[in-house]
Amino acid sequence: MSGAKAVREDRLWQRHADMAKLGGTPKGGVNRQALSREDSQARKLLASWAEARGFAVFTDAIGNLFVRREGQDADAPPVASGSHMDSQPTGGRFDGMYGVLAAFEALEALEDAGIKTRRPVIAVAWTNEEGSRFQPGAMGSAVFAGHYKLDDMLLVEDWNGVVLKDALAETLRAAPAPMRDGDPGFALGGYVEAHIEQGPRLESERTTIGVVTGIQGSRRFIVQAMGEEAHAGTTPRANRKDAFAAATRIAAAMYEATADADDTLRFTIGRVDVQPGSPNTVPGKASFTIDMRHPSNDVLEAHEKTLRDIVASRAAPCQAKIDRVTAVAPTDFDPKVIDLVRAKADALALSNMDMPSGAGHDAMHIARLCPAGMIFVPCERGVSHNEAENATPADLAAGARVLVAVLEELANR
Ligand code: GLV
Ligand code: MN
Ligand code: MN
Repeated sequence: MSGAKAVREDRLWQRHADMAKLGGTPKGGVNRQALSREDSQARKLLASWAEARGFAVFTDAIGNLFVRREGQDADAPPVASGSHMDSQPTGGRFDGMYGVLAAFEALEALEDAGIKTRRPVIAVAWTNEEGSRFQPGAMGSAVFAGHYKLDDMLLVEDWNGVVLKDALAETLRAAPAPMRDGDPGFALGGYVEAHIEQGPRLESERTTIGVVTGIQGSRRFIVQAMGEEAHAGTTPRANRKDAFAAATRIAAAMYEATADADDTLRFTIGRVDVQPGSPNTVPGKASFTIDMRHPSNDVLEAHEKTLRDIVASRAAPCQAKIDRVTAVAPTDFDPKVIDLVRAKADALALSNMDMPSGAGHDAMHIARLCPAGMIFVPCERGVSHNEAENATPADLAAGARVLVAVLEELANR
């Protein structure tokens, strides 16, 4: 039996249902933010499934969780697949989790089919892909790839001042796994990540498999405006240094400056904080996050300059500053992996189309280490980062079949 034939749609779907209970919300989504209690529950569940199948489980210093199926050549760099188990605060059941469960299904299918591979095959759950609680996102894969320094990331604080190092220690206490010695990162022979598309193209074109060619570049910033707290009833406008008013002037100018004719540039202000947050005190501080994305690094660079000019020119009479939290250059996946994904989808008679990814994924960092690619499957109406996110058992299984076929081939190269 081939690995693809051994993929079990019912098992894969049930595993999604089991994971969806961890952090499940009344609206049918999940709130399983990075390094939370729910994240540790998901890690424990995955590890228990792995141990039941006799796969080795281990973690690293940033908490990436690896499940390893041994190869005939134990010293050959493994082939890996995976994604993330953390979610947005109002996230769906499939974003990230599908890539982890499809990778685990691939390991199980290889096992069930009795297929031996030369290289070991690893299923991985990368730590903190979403970056909604701890910034920056795609943190575990970025540390693995050497894009961010482990020590810097351990000091990052969430919005409530919880230090990542403490949250990670707590998570690993609740979901213990053998710790791999040394810095995160080891040689990989290839990486393929499965994910729901998170956009509407596959569904609207009635296509089952997205052969992902690359990922657009992204930058995140935080803008802070500093003014002066004052009495809301007594302070004339001319005397105010209203930090929120400055922040809104800056934000309005940014929305205008980032609107492009062909609607390619993505600009989002997703989190706003106003201090002291009292109805009758003029705000003394206001801050907001920016997420900006485009396929061209030059365009991102030019717009970053514009954002900086706006902050400098619109803040008066307040002070304001903009700090870059992260920059990830656009990713082009390996042409050989792209061709392999397409060939395996064709061989399985699955409709497919080449497409770039608008969303960020752990694969963008791992692609700097080894030949990498991605497989997309449709999601309902393209809705994601939303509790209503949905996908069909058949499409999820189809993506897993392509994945196992690709991994099998890469693991024998
Ligand atoms: C990942 O969730 C992203 O924001 O692209
Ligand atoms: Mn994701
Ligand atoms: Mn996401």
